Amino acid sequence: MKPAGLQGRLMVAQLLVLLVAGVALAGVAALVAPPLFHKHLAQAGMNDPHVRAHTEEAFAQALGTALIAGAVAAVLAATVASVLVIRRVAAPVGRLVAAARDITAGRYGIDVRPSGTDTDFARLEEAFATMAGRLERTERARQQLLADLAHELRTPVATLVAYVDAVEDGVLPADATSWQVMRDQLDRLGRLVTDLSVLSAVDEDALTLEREDVDPAAVVAAAAAAAAPRFANKAVKLDVHSGRDLPVLSLDRHRIEQILANLFDNALRHTPEGGTVTASARVLDRHRVRISVKDTGEGIAPERLEAIFERFHRADSARSAAGSGLGLTIARGLATAHGGTLTATSAGPGQGTRFDLDLPVP
Ligand SMILES: Nc1ncnc2c1ncn2[C@@H]1O[C@H](COP(=O)(O)OP(=O)(O)OP(=O)(O)O)[C@@H](O)[C@H]1O
Ligand SMILES: [Mg+2]
Repeated sequence: MKPAGLQGRLMVAQLLVLLVAGVALAGVAALVAPPLFHKHLAQAGMNDPHVRAHTEEAFAQALGTALIAGAVAAVLAATVASVLVIRRVAAPVGRLVAAARDITAGRYGIDVRPSGTDTDFARLEEAFATMAGRLERTERARQQLLADLAHELRTPVATLVAYVDAVEDGVLPADATSWQVMRDQLDRLGRLVTDLSVLSAVDEDALTLEREDVDPAAVVAAAAAAAAPRFANKAVKLDVHSGRDLPVLSLDRHRIEQILANLFDNALRHTPEGGTVTASARVLDRHRVRISVKDTGEGIAPERLEAIFERFHRADSARSAAGSGLGLTIARGLATAHGGTLTATSAGPGQGTRFDLDLPVP
């Protein structure tokens, strides 16, 4: 037999309470009423045993009938009241049970409408709806991440397989060009693995920063020096203007250089020949130093300024380009781990872009 639901069990409990109350009422009435009536008859001087017997029987009958009629009316009224009360109490619980079942089955589009009044149930429903929403977002992000990851792995793996097959079948020679193509694909896979492991460390707050006292201008100069040859190759100018006497910051030098390397890399990729990229470090206010990387390149539309920090985000035209779209996600994660922020500003397409890395002064 199917176990009774909450409504059924509450109803049985109510009826049991009613039964106990009824038995107690009848018992007390049967014990108390006859002796009292008997006493009153004696006090009224009614001593004829015939009359007394008849009167007492009449009283017993009247009492019995009144008790039965009262019990029936009480049961009916109490049942109606119970049903109304139980429905009110059990309905939200029923909705929550149904919603929890939906979530277990992977259906997140649940319908939990908080009843509005400030009761414990309304708060429970509200908390449940919030939890369901968050679960849904996490699940969607997980699916998206897997899809992006598969997409990202597909090209280098397919290229490697095709090359290995072709070399094996003698269709392509095992020469320097073939090895170079295969090495490039392996490098790409290697970079992806490194990026993903940094990203998951950032996500889990498991990144250990090796902080040291650093002059921010020196970090900018070092990162710019590392990027300079590539800028020279593409004929894009790289300027560095840093303020004097900047406060010393407590930073993981290599992580900050990693952020800047990606900003330089992006700026170079999105700035045409003859353009200029300017890097600078300056005091923003008493609590922050701002490192900026500004380019005169293709710019970013306002609606994409936040999206570019999402993982695997790339401009569609750049889909096949070298980047995997993890650079800025990692850069922002590293900035946050330092207690700083990384933001992008651009007046729009064709207007250049500026990235600001704000770092706290200890
Ligand atoms: N300076 C810039 N000017 C114009 N668009 C930019 C600039 N920097 C980033 N973007 C846009 O933001 C996207 C995301 O950048 P991100 O650094 O995260 O990825 P990526 O450079 O494509 O790949 P990865 O850095 O992982 O190699 C880029 O694909 C590009 O569309
Ligand atoms: Mg990048």
